[in-house]
Amino acid sequence: MTQLEEQPTAKETPLVPIEKVVALSKRRGFVYPNSEIYGGVAGIYDFGPLGVELRNNIRRYWWWSMVQLHDNVVGIEGANITHPRVWEASGHVENFVDRLTECANCKRRFRIDHLPEENWEQKKCPNCGGKLGEPRNFNLLMETYLGVVEGERMKTYLRGEACQNIYLDYDNVLKSSRVQVPFGICQIGKAYRNEVTPGNFLFRQREFEQWDLQFFVHPSEMQQWFDYWKEFRFNWYHSIITHKDRLRFRPHAADELAHYAKQAFDIEYRTILGWQEWEGIHWRQDWDLSRHSQYSGQDLSYTDPITKERYIPWIVETSGGVDRTFLNLLLDAYEEEPDPSGRESETRTVLHLNPMLAPVKVAVLPLQKNKEELVTTAKTLHKKLQRLMVAQYDEVQNIGRRYRRQDEIGTPYCVTIDFTTLEDQTVTVRERDTTAQTRIHMEELPMYLLERVTWK
Ligand code: GAP
Repeated sequence: MTQLEEQPTAKETPLVPIEKVVALSKRRGFVYPNSEIYGGVAGIYDFGPLGVELRNNIRRYWWWSMVQLHDNVVGIEGANITHPRVWEASGHVENFVDRLTECANCKRRFRIDHLPEENWEQKKCPNCGGKLGEPRNFNLLMETYLGVVEGERMKTYLRGEACQNIYLDYDNVLKSSRVQVPFGICQIGKAYRNEVTPGNFLFRQREFEQWDLQFFVHPSEMQQWFDYWKEFRFNWYHSIITHKDRLRFRPHAADELAHYAKQAFDIEYRTILGWQEWEGIHWRQDWDLSRHSQYSGQDLSYTDPITKERYIPWIVETSGGVDRTFLNLLLDAYEEEPDPSGRESETRTVLHLNPMLAPVKVAVLPLQKNKEELVTTAKTLHKKLQRLMVAQYDEVQNIGRRYRRQDEIGTPYCVTIDFTTLEDQTVTVRERDTTAQTRIHMEELPMYLLERVTWK
């Protein structure tokens, strides 16, 4: 991570319209609208072949830096459905609501917290100027039913925030592993919300994925750990973007704090949508474990093994979105630019994705497809590299077109097999961002690439 933080901020480029990224995502197989042949479902998406690679890399990098590199953090994977009482204890049944107003004229609905202040004060629709109605509360939890027999079916909810499983499994983790306070539990998992105004592609969906750390501490150490994780998470995002100046902290005002939070900071990223939340750092105090103790009747207090002090641990939460990371990274990486080498006149579309996150790490390209020796050498090299990283083989169209195709999906390295290769076993390695080319011996190539595309 530190090595990446030292990279200079990218040159200032215009903020990318979401439509550009939506079009690229569909064209190149990153993201598709869900159930498209039936007309689609608002706020729900599927991930295509490249999308799933990028997503897995993003997840793995998070897990590596949060769980693998911290001795006092372990991971779990909880179910999407839980006992319905969980959502009463968590406060979501009562408090997880959006306040909406409807225009009497055009019938459009608006979240009151998303309306410009003057529109709400004057009860004036921002769309048609019509009269806005009285606010109504809509609960965001998605209901589902367990069981098949009518009358015996139990109503419950798909989890509205993934982190609840961590509190439910907290006691089991304590008893089954050797962790002691202070320690953390991480999870990556789906969450479901009946968002009333889903939109802006992956930004606000109804089914999405979150990554959470819940870090359990003695109350006297809360501030210290809150500060640690706040900084750690900021640096983490800082390390994976090119436009460093588009990242900032924003403290929550008292009236926007979630029902469980005593203090909160958002890590925000600036896109064409303005400054928007990417991850929340929340001071959850003893809210969750106290409420679950109260509602379940199970004592979730902790006894310090040395001092024998008994207390409910306080919690620092860091909670971000996998999909929002996916979207922000595409928006951060997308650029339409003149060919940097000046060799080609066309504008090229390039994704300046961090090489360790890029879905394809290397493309192997024979200079010509009608020269058998070039093709055989390229295919053999491709098979070798494929065992180490995601590698593509491409022989279709001229070399310039093939470079362009790889630039557009963010492949950091293209390796060309040419006639010199047949003489001295060297290949040309072309770097995506600068388009600079270097000759390297084939024997050295795997290590050369691995050093540049694996986690640091
Ligand atoms: N456990 C705390 C919690 O769920 P949150 O701020 O509601 O807090 C955390 O969500 C993160 O999940 C957000 O910062 C955002 O990245 C992501 N997120 C929330 N709602 C989302 C939605 N409807 N679509 C996509 N991502 C969402």
